[in-house]
Amino acid sequence: MEQPLNLQEYEQLARERLPAMVYDYYAGGAGGEQTLRENVEAWARLRIRPRVLVNVGERDLTTSVLGQALAMPVLLAPCAFNTLAHPKGELAVARAAAAAGIIHVVSTASTIRLEDVAAASGGLRWFQLYCYRDREVTRTLVKRAEAAGYSALCLTADMPIAGNRERDARNRFALPEDTRWANLEDAGLHQMPALSEGSALARYFADLLDPCITWELIAWLRETTRLPIVVKGILTHEDASLAVEHGVDAIIVSNHGGRQLDGVAPTCEVLAEVVDAVGEKLKVLVDGGIRRGSDIFKALALGARAVLIGRPYLWGLAVAGEAGVRRVLKLLRDELSLTMGLAGRPTVASIDRSAVRELNGMLRR
Ligand code: FNR
Ligand code: LAC
Repeated sequence: MEQPLNLQEYEQLARERLPAMVYDYYAGGAGGEQTLRENVEAWARLRIRPRVLVNVGERDLTTSVLGQALAMPVLLAPCAFNTLAHPKGELAVARAAAAAGIIHVVSTASTIRLEDVAAASGGLRWFQLYCYRDREVTRTLVKRAEAAGYSALCLTADMPIAGNRERDARNRFALPEDTRWANLEDAGLHQMPALSEGSALARYFADLLDPCITWELIAWLRETTRLPIVVKGILTHEDASLAVEHGVDAIIVSNHGGRQLDGVAPTCEVLAEVVDAVGEKLKVLVDGGIRRGSDIFKALALGARAVLIGRPYLWGLAVAGEAGVRRVLKLLRDELSLTMGLAGRPTVASIDRSAVRELNGMLRR
């Protein structure tokens, strides 16, 4: 294939290059993968309402989240184990994000230590937190992220236990010898157990991560850190309102890319519900199935402040390392700019709800 022209082509190329176990781990979802599929499909159920004879000679894609400037309304979602895609792993991703002027959310399960990822670029980065049963281990992670200059903490709330990923079970997903949970080395929790069947990742989670966390954790985090707190994995207006009550700074509408509870709604479908409930009180971000600049446009029209992308940057990384991630981001940027121009919405702020129409009553008004 020649140079990929869109994100789908990056996935095809990555699939040819990656070992099947890694491709399946990245691409796969939970259960029958209904939510995984629908995340992507649902954006097509919204139609853009273009305005004409608007001056679109200049398009301004800049915005901000939590007072932090973004060159475009996109962040890189936390994704585990980047060196499975490319030896430079999270370092390459960090550099590509910085070059694009966007925020890189680094996973607890990164394969390079969070301090080294921080040192790799001068860009903005948030740290994604999984809460270990051992609270001291968790506290240490938070303190390290703060010390290394991360500018927000992103608590993932939708994975108290690991979803049922059948591809990983079938492949007996495990990390190769040279790959580890780098951030947990100091605590001695950097290896997944060797199993004769099933996913070692699922076992690691069951053994070490705390399934008993509640909203109480937010108060604990507040005492532990001065960083803004973002909660990732909200799918209902009830939980969005609880996030407001607990003083959370921003939320991410997410179903973990269809990897946790199969059968939940695609994020596109619940975004308006959440924005309508809490949009005045905190910033709402969204991820899941964003594959085109037009998808970003639709998410902004529904009221998202910005979107996150997960798998697409892993495909770019697998195909061409840092350059691949940069190009994935450039494709999205160009597509978003073009969409904004052709829709007569030359600034991010001008993309309001009137910029889309619903098919099948998806939007509450
Ligand atoms: C993830 N995701 C994720 N989320 C998180 O909070 N911590 C993590 O470590 C990971 N790890 C991870 C690994 C892989 C391989 C994938 C694909 C996803 C979820 C991720 O942050 C995001 O919510 C979804 O990937 C968004 O959906 P798309 O863009 O992949 O469709
Ligand atoms: C995943 C975890 C690690 O989705 O968040 O694989």
